[in-house]
Amino acid sequence: MPKKVILDLDPGIDDAMALCMALFDPRLDVLAVTAVGGNVSPQIATRNVQALIEQLDPPRWPRVGVASYADTGLPVDGRHLHGIDGLGGVHLDVAELRTRHPSEKIICDEIRANPEEVTIIALGPLTNIARAFQRDPELPSLVGRLAISGGTVAVPGNVTPAAEFNFYCDPESARAVLRSPCTKTLVPLDVTNRVVMSLDLLNQLPPETTKVGGLLHQILPPAFRAYRQQFGLEGIHVHDSVTLMAVMNPELFTAKEMAGDVETRGDLTMGATVFDRRRVPAWRFNLEVAVDMQKDDVVRELLASLANSGRRTGRNRFEV
Ligand code: BDR
Ligand code: CA
Repeated sequence: MPKKVILDLDPGIDDAMALCMALFDPRLDVLAVTAVGGNVSPQIATRNVQALIEQLDPPRWPRVGVASYADTGLPVDGRHLHGIDGLGGVHLDVAELRTRHPSEKIICDEIRANPEEVTIIALGPLTNIARAFQRDPELPSLVGRLAISGGTVAVPGNVTPAAEFNFYCDPESARAVLRSPCTKTLVPLDVTNRVVMSLDLLNQLPPETTKVGGLLHQILPPAFRAYRQQFGLEGIHVHDSVTLMAVMNPELFTAKEMAGDVETRGDLTMGATVFDRRRVPAWRFNLEVAVDMQKDDVVRELLASLANSGRRTGRNRFEV
């Protein structure tokens, strides 16, 4: 039986790559894709989710959730890495949304319809998840598992010295979700940073004549340019795709029970994750944290999943 999942995304190039894999993977049944503001504004994130699904045209279209701003707004965005539109500045056509349900409503509906069966894969700020838990306080115990791309344990942040991007964007929501009784797996920067895809990735993608290949060949080259300009790196991180792999191939990851929380204030520390790692901790374990992975195998599986998506998608509609 394929695993029922909801993908919560702020596309974002690594979010888009994760979507390319998830929509065609026979191990997953993608019930819904819910947009959240983060790398781009909520409006653009919603548009991108819709445009990506239209362009990829999977065999079964998931429900789409509409994003809106967190109460605290969006303190930062990721356009310096992901491009002005979050997808490398590539213009993707989009038809008008057929449904206009907020992301948190779709999450509540799908979890209620499939109690304890659904894995939520949260690849952006935790705004929608926190709102869903607020809207329906029993929901956390009805979620099968929540996999979160975010936070750091022992490495520096990537938006401030202390904070990881997704948690910094909406620390109040990140704290509420981490404190909730939901079963959680965190995939922090400590692990996702270890995968740096070199330019050779472009040679290993599905052919441009496929829908997945056509899309990735458009959105990835601008990401390589941005990483070179911003960091002097000849490669890119694909954080959210690594997090998806932790759901699809958990045997390739080592996880540990930990007690963690999120700093919501602080001139220097807003959005930082704090773990009680004292010899005699006072906090109770509240989440599982990925602490290691078999990196080469993860990369191999990631490329295999993309290749599979290429085979399962039809031909690129932009092909002449
Ligand atoms: C996270 O930040 C975003 O820019 C990526 O999409 C990923 O979700 C990594 O810190
Ligand atoms: Ca993301």
